[in-house]
Formats: sequence, C-alpha cells, structure tokens
Amino acid sequence: MSLINKNIKVGDVAVLIPKATEVLVKYDIDFCCGGNRVLLDVIKESGLKENQIFDELEVLLTKRRAELESIGDDFVAMKPVELSLYIENTHHTYLKETLPVISDLLSLVLRIHGGNHNELYDIHKNFGILKTDLEQHLIKEETILFPLLKEGKDMEKINRYTAEILQEHEVVGDVLRKIRKASNKYTVPEDGCDTYRKAYEMLEELQNDLHQHVHLENNILLNQFDKKI
Ligand SMILES: [Fe+2]
Ligand SMILES: [Fe+2]
Repeated sequence: MSLINKNIKVGDVAVLIPKATEVLVKYDIDFCCGGNRVLLDVIKESGLKENQIFDELEVLLTKRRAELESIGDDFVAMKPVELSLYIENTHHTYLKETLPVISDLLSLVLRIHGGNHNELYDIHKNFGILKTDLEQHLIKEETILFPLLKEGKDMEKINRYTAEILQEHEVVGDVLRKIRKASNKYTVPEDGCDTYRKAYEMLEELQNDLHQHVHLENNILLNQFDKKI
C-alpha cells in the first residue's frame, strides 16, 4: 500500500521527507526551480524507474513517520505547510486506498452473513455514510482549507472553514462510535469467516488511524497554525 500520494509535487517531497533530497539529487530531479512539478511527470519524462524511486522515498517516509510518532512534540514544531503535507501524504492517502477496500469487504460480508447477523445492515449503512462524508471532507481540506493555511492570509475564510472541518470531525467520530458499538468492538462472531475477520480488522485499523489523523488536525494544525505561519 503506497504511503506517498502519486500526485505529489517535487518540492513537497523535499519538505515532507527531509532526507528525500538525497534521493532526488541521486536521480537528477530538480527540487528547487522544478519544485512545482508533479514528481511522477518528471520521472516519466526522464525515463526513470517510477517504482524504484517511490520505494526509496517510502522507506524514508516510514522512518520519518516512526520518528515523529515516537516524539509527539515534533508535530507541534512542524509548520502548517509541513504538517498539512504530512497529513495529506500519510492519513489521506491511507483513507483513499482503504475506504473502497473496506466497502467491498462489508458488502461481501453482508451478502454472506446478513441473514444471521442483522447488525451488519447497520454497519454497512453507517460505513457508507462515513465513506461519503470522508471523501468530501478530504477534498475540502486538500482543495480549500490546507491551501488557505499555507497562504495564511484570509483569516475570515480560514476561521469559517476551520469551523466546518471541526464540525465534520465530530460527525465522523459519531459514526465511528456507532460502527464500533454495532460490531461489539469489532468482535467477530463464532460463525464468522476470514472475510468477516478481515473486514473487522480493517475497520478497527481505520478507526485508530482516524483518531491520530483528527488529533493532528484538531489539536495541532488547526489549533496553533496562526502562531507558526
Ligand atoms: Fe484530514
Ligand atoms: Fe479532517
């Protein structure tokens, strides 16, 4: 599962992963003047190996992520531009890849086990709400709020969108709690199959990832951005 958004710009790679500049230099990818270009386009034009470069960058990003998560304070020290980029390239990428997979699994589990487990109808429905809400939420953050934070100028707009985003986080939290309750904290029933188990495992992982994601946005990015721009 890719950790790095394939539409990332070259300059953003350099900001997001400090050691990435060594990889970019190695492959003659210009991250200064050419920083505004999409990395994938540069790779293709130069005839470089896409997988090799993304693999090398992902190794570095994984290390960076582990470092940051072990020293929580580092998130606080990050500038909004850096933190929003980190969130987009880790948590948003994770959601974009995972939501469709869980959706398919839940449809399959409902088809097979819905007759014996009525709660699956409830879980399937709430997951559908969560998926649609999150898809729109990510678009709003990536196309409106994060660019506004990076610019750091229009406080009226920033405050308005921040309030909307915080409210949407509340709704996401409510739906997650409903799914957790209906699934009895993701407990697979005795007659559950491997698909059932996989669906619940992924739902629990999704819940944990969303907790960290919303924590970074609510408590750090949106709470302190005005002090750090
Ligand atoms: Fe987000
Ligand atoms: Fe968010």
